[in-house]
Amino acid sequence: MVETSFENVYGELLPELVPVSGGAAQYSPLHPGARDLGEVDAASLDGLAMLAPPGTVERRHAMAQALRALSPRARLTVLALKDKGGSRIARELSELGCLVQETSRSHHRICVTTGPGDVAAIAAALREGAPQYVEALGLWSQPGVFSWNRIDPGSALLLAHLPALSGSGADFGCGIGILARAALGSLKVTRLAMLDIDRRAVEMARRNIADDRVRFVWADARADSALTGLDFVVMNPPFHEGGAENRVLGQGFIQRAAAVLRRGGTCWLTANRHLPYEAVLKALFASVNLIAESGGYKVYQARK
Ligand SMILES: C[S@@+](CC[C@H](N)C(=O)[O-])C[C@H]1O[C@@H](n2cnc3c(N)ncnc32)[C@H](O)[C@@H]1O
Repeated sequence: MVETSFENVYGELLPELVPVSGGAAQYSPLHPGARDLGEVDAASLDGLAMLAPPGTVERRHAMAQALRALSPRARLTVLALKDKGGSRIARELSELGCLVQETSRSHHRICVTTGPGDVAAIAAALREGAPQYVEALGLWSQPGVFSWNRIDPGSALLLAHLPALSGSGADFGCGIGILARAALGSLKVTRLAMLDIDRRAVEMARRNIADDRVRFVWADARADSALTGLDFVVMNPPFHEGGAENRVLGQGFIQRAAAVLRRGGTCWLTANRHLPYEAVLKALFASVNLIAESGGYKVYQARK
């Protein structure tokens, strides 16, 4: 039997595991420009294949969004590596009221259902994973966004050492706006571009920061070409992609910062101590200073 290719996908799916049509619509919030599954009319999609996100609440929310968006009897295929949430998908889909067929291939669990799911269970998962105001932070956030309900210790260390900045700058991988808010505390900051590859982060940052000096950008920070001649860049670069450690990603952030800063401009960076960023910084910047080291994190100031 030939399986029909999916026209709607969420995430980067291995073609050997799920057949995807060449022009398939993307719905993952981690793909700039992708459609928002939450904005799709209910019961309107004729099928969807999803690489399940690793976080439990985020995953249930995404699967509930899919079930809401699918038309009656449309096929939903959800898969993930076993140790990245895959082993829990079948149970979670059945808790959402679905009958599930599960198979295993290439270390992935692959679950297929035609819904329709239980309306109350779907509504509860949608509520649980929705944007919410986190009292402890005094900020809007959403499960699935980086460190969604607490300040990352690396970011906290940078906040403790960040001087009053001035001029125009950028926050690479801005998340919900933790570093940007501190940078904007200085009235000498004239403009700030806040970039993140996660649409949800950019939306939450928009809710958290009402400031005419800011431009919000849903994009890969390494690819945005609008920036040049900046006075500063702040960042806590990501070092995970698709659930696996990726050191090249942070190095790409550093290269991009060096490219967009003016001569004498500064990059403020925080990172886990074990990450190999110092050599890249030294190769691209005129001076590199270790400003703080504590709790497994390092803060650098690099001047171009
Ligand atoms: C370590 S978090 C820091 C978040 C925030 N600056 C903070 O301090 O809480 C890294 C952020 O980079 C984002 N990110 C990952 N890859 C990216 C890319 N290629 N371009 C832009 N942002 C990216 C992630 O979504 C995440 O929000």
